[in-house]
Amino acid sequence: MFTVDSISVRYDQKTTIQDFSFSVEKGEVLSIIGPNGSGKSTLLKAISGFTPYYKGTVMLEGTNIKSMKSKQIAQKMCMLSQKNQAPNDMSVKDLVSYGRFPHKRWFEKLNDEDMEIIDWALSKTYLTEYQDRPVSSLSGGESQRAWIAMALAQSPKILLLDEPTTYLDISHQHEVLELVRELNSEMDMTVLMVLHDLNQASQYSDRIVVVQSGEKAMQGTPKEVMTQEMIRSVYCMDCEIQYVQTERKPRIHLLKKVK
Ligand SMILES: Nc1ncnc2c1ncn2[C@@H]1O[C@H](COP(=O)(O)OP(=O)(O)O)[C@@H](O)[C@H]1O
Ligand SMILES: [Mg+2]
Repeated sequence: MFTVDSISVRYDQKTTIQDFSFSVEKGEVLSIIGPNGSGKSTLLKAISGFTPYYKGTVMLEGTNIKSMKSKQIAQKMCMLSQKNQAPNDMSVKDLVSYGRFPHKRWFEKLNDEDMEIIDWALSKTYLTEYQDRPVSSLSGGESQRAWIAMALAQSPKILLLDEPTTYLDISHQHEVLELVRELNSEMDMTVLMVLHDLNQASQYSDRIVVVQSGEKAMQGTPKEVMTQEMIRSVYCMDCEIQYVQTERKPRIHLLKKVK
């Protein structure tokens, strides 16, 4: 569905992402984890076309994204970055309506079908009652849901999320990740996301890619990736890994920093 082949990104002569390759299969949830500053956001921005890469290729359903127009890309892929900012007075409904634009011609008005999709996206994210509120007046969790609603209205095949749970309390983190899981299972949306929390990555991902200093350190299922050795070498932390019988996913208990 989506293949990243050997891409490298440089900021002011400094290589931040080096020869990075991985692929995302249709219908899977793939999470990217790694320490702060390891290049996770850069990687997501590069593959979604926000940041140029000087080497390598990114293929979306068999087509090099460099040969695709931004509108064509937006019809298939939607990226929500770490800090999304809507213009101050924009209402929730207007924001969600933006999701329809990649599917319209210039100046083409939204029709009944678009309106139905927008209403559905609002209701799916429990925002129907908030639709006339300015996005800037929403709490962190509500605002994150509004951006996800916009992504839903865009109906992409692949959703890219950069730390969708940062700034949220644990119950809103849970809510957002459950919503992502629902989009994946009910709408067959492929999800590629950066997650900070190792246990969330373990719980919600089919596969995980580990980034360390701009390079791929490891990839595999949560079980393959979440090992004491990986956490020691990538995060310099000692931990215990536990398997609860009803779950097949590892749970990580961080113990102490490795000296
Ligand atoms: N626009 C930029 N210009 C210069 N350096 C940047 C820019 N964006 C990120 N960096 C640097 O690239 C490295 C990786 O950053 P980032 O991708 O944001 O890491 P992560 O998301 O893993 O925390 C960091 O050292 C950061 O300071
Ligand atoms: Mg980041």
